[in-house]
Amino acid sequence: MTVSSAPGKVYLFGEHAVVYGEPAVPCAIERRATVSVEQRDDDRLRVHAEDLSLDGFTVEYSSDADATPDVDASESLVRAGVGYVDAAVSQAREVADAPDAGFDITIESAIPLGAGLGSSAAVTVAGIDAATRELGVELPATELADRAYRAELAVQDGEASRADTFCSATGGAVRVEGDDCRAIEAPDLPIVVGFDGGAGDTGELVAGVRALREEYDFAADTVESIGDVVRRGEDVLAVGDLEELGRLMSFNHGLLEALGVSSRSLDNMVWAARDAGALGAKLTGAGGGGCIVALDPTDETKTALQFTPGCEEAFRAELDTEGVRAEGP
Ligand code: PMV
Repeated sequence: MTVSSAPGKVYLFGEHAVVYGEPAVPCAIERRATVSVEQRDDDRLRVHAEDLSLDGFTVEYSSDADATPDVDASESLVRAGVGYVDAAVSQAREVADAPDAGFDITIESAIPLGAGLGSSAAVTVAGIDAATRELGVELPATELADRAYRAELAVQDGEASRADTFCSATGGAVRVEGDDCRAIEAPDLPIVVGFDGGAGDTGELVAGVRALREEYDFAADTVESIGDVVRRGEDVLAVGDLEELGRLMSFNHGLLEALGVSSRSLDNMVWAARDAGALGAKLTGAGGGGCIVALDPTDETKTALQFTPGCEEAFRAELDTEGVRAEGP
């Protein structure tokens, strides 16, 4: 059996504006998805997922077109878990030139699903790494990132950014501008995440910003202003000024709010973090629901979030400088 893990991520800056060519800075966090893979002696796949949602599930199927998954879980849950695993397995079969390889796969994830923390990218990256190593091939992190990006493209109908998969494969803080992804210097960051238990619809939120930007000059200016905040944020990260970094993250949240992608629960959590003395706080990812990211070296923000209506879970998650990692042979 071969086991790999890969981290989730938060956006320190730049979501949504990155769609229009502005830079963005995602950063890997110490919350991981772990994928265990054991090759079978037939061509079937058996996937067991834990923690992807409240109830785990197991599904076994072959690649025959008429085979139906034997599963007792909702269809969307199965699609969410299995789509990415399937795409990861296809990549591994291609890399190792083993088109008929079958596997028993177990996924354990500590990353809330669909909440802006890159859970699907982490499962895809760890899945490709474990399955290729199980077949005797080691991929460098950049090729892994590229293959994971292609796997996400296949599952998400051609709509995926390179940010999540690159960040999960390489770890640390990353600068993304178009197809250009690179590692950037960052200090230890006292990250606190608040999760409202929900998720936004990324496609709908991106379309909403696009429409607003076409109708109002202020919205186009707001997208450019986010780009300015990101460029300043990069410089501030390099010198490690956490107070200024927090201030810029809070500006970024205000600009995202103006673009209509926040929500009452996200705003509640951002205000709770501010009141608790966080250096800064903002939503992370597409918005509409899901997670906020705050910076606070003390326990105050985490404690305040735990008592904030609408916050289902609050946890500390430092920046993870390690990307994909072999956990077993
Ligand atoms: O919610 P996430 O982690 O999928 O992030 C979406 C980020 C957007 O900028 C809103 C969209 C994108 O593809 O970059």
